[in-house]
Amino acid sequence: MTFSAPLEKRFARMLQSYPQKRSALVPMLMYAQDEVGSLTDEVIAEIADRLGVTVLQVNEVIGYYSMMHKKPLGQYHVQVYTNISCMLRGGFKVWDHARKTLGIGHKQVDADGRFSLEEVECIGSCCWAPAMQVNYDYHHNVTPESFDRVINELKKGGGQ
Ligand code: FES
Repeated sequence: MTFSAPLEKRFARMLQSYPQKRSALVPMLMYAQDEVGSLTDEVIAEIADRLGVTVLQVNEVIGYYSMMHKKPLGQYHVQVYTNISCMLRGGFKVWDHARKTLGIGHKQVDADGRFSLEEVECIGSCCWAPAMQVNYDYHHNVTPESFDRVINELKKGGGQ
């Protein structure tokens, strides 16, 4: 399998940047996921082959990182954080609101593929808890009201 020309170029650069090829595994998986939409069996096999590691080793890495997904996500992947700091500052209130508002649960995608939702651990934004992330954008001090503002903006086609 081949990726887009710009991604192939990026991969070639990355493979020369690390003393050991396998060190490029995590960034290659993230870039491939962004381009393909998920880490399919084909993507996993291709990257394993290029880095000289086994498919099992790639799957072990994917299983460790919550930001890696083997199933397609929504156009907007909403992650709500509920670990200690977020929990103490209303994270579960935001999480419950998110499930109700989007009509989906943990690791589910809505019917038109627009939004997916996931309850996750800490992103290191504990000082601004509760936190939420939509694709690569962080949102801090989230309330049900600010959650609605973000989602409504995305529904209107704004942002990201
Ligand atoms: S616990 Fe929520 S960002 Fe750290």
